[in-house]
Amino acid sequence: MNVNFQNWVKNRQLQIESYLENRLPAENCAPERLHEAMRYVVLGGGKRIRPLLSFAAGELNGADEARVIVVAAAVELIHAYSLVHDDLPCMDDDTLRRGKPTCHIQYDEPTALLVGDSLQSLAFQLMAEFYLTDNPKKQLEMIKQLAQAAGSRGMAGGQAIDLASVGKILTLPELEFMHIHKTGALIRAAVMLAAHCGDELSDDQLAHLDHFAKCIGLAFQVVDDVLDAEATTAALGKTAGKDAEQNKPTYVSILGVKQARELAKELKHDAYEALDRLGIATNRLLQVTDFIVQREF
Ligand code: IPE
Ligand code: IPE
Ligand code: MG
Ligand code: MG
Ligand code: MG
Repeated sequence: MNVNFQNWVKNRQLQIESYLENRLPAENCAPERLHEAMRYVVLGGGKRIRPLLSFAAGELNGADEARVIVVAAAVELIHAYSLVHDDLPCMDDDTLRRGKPTCHIQYDEPTALLVGDSLQSLAFQLMAEFYLTDNPKKQLEMIKQLAQAAGSRGMAGGQAIDLASVGKILTLPELEFMHIHKTGALIRAAVMLAAHCGDELSDDQLAHLDHFAKCIGLAFQVVDDVLDAEATTAALGKTAGKDAEQNKPTYVSILGVKQARELAKELKHDAYEALDRLGIATNRLLQVTDFIVQREF
């Protein structure tokens, strides 16, 4: 990672942290325990990949940063909620997340459920509360896009498929379908919603950007599967080796680590090509793409 990009990442991470910090209800605001738990899971951790993608996409077409940060925060809040629920005993039953005890361990299961519910609601509150574009109809469309990305035909649906697939051997198209939904949908929303905050792109440009987002969303989960098999718990801040232990079908269980890594690289090249076809300067998105595929945690 070059120094300039490293600094950009650091600054953007600080920016989203401070924005989220200000938007989350204070710990001394009733109900205190719920608000404390919401802040516990959202603040002070995570790579903030989705906000980074939003900031980079917003740079494509001159989107106002004050608007982009709202969609970045909304997507990150839904992501944080998805992690809290993903870690519950009824799902992946994990005790460590972002280097800390998971929400239901630090607090309790009912609190973890309610933290998820509340973070999701807060995300939509932000999307409805602030101007994201000058066109109210477009803003409603953006809210709908986020709802679809989070819901049963997006992330939540992907999670349902994930749970139903334990112990099964999926075909590659089935595995891709699962990953595109459970992880890809929100990543796609992070990119596309940010672009909608900026100057109009042509239909062709939107299609290329969408294709980019799909490739990078899938690549992201392929790398997550590889890291679960290869990285250490200390590096990941979450328990390594869980997918194999829980008999989850992943790109590693189906292709093996080497081929899964190859696939992530291929998807990166497809993502590059899609950006190339956009016909606008996309340097920042290219850098974030590299960051996603080359990350070690
Ligand atoms: C982990 O996401 C869960 C997946 C969707 C694969 P991240 O790797 O983005 O988690 P944080 O936000 O950095 O903790
Ligand atoms: C989680 O996928 C995807 C969502 C939270 C929607 P994983 O179950 O692979 O994520 P980790 O590995 O626990 O972070
Ligand atoms: Mg899971
Ligand atoms: Mg999990
Ligand atoms: Mg995983």
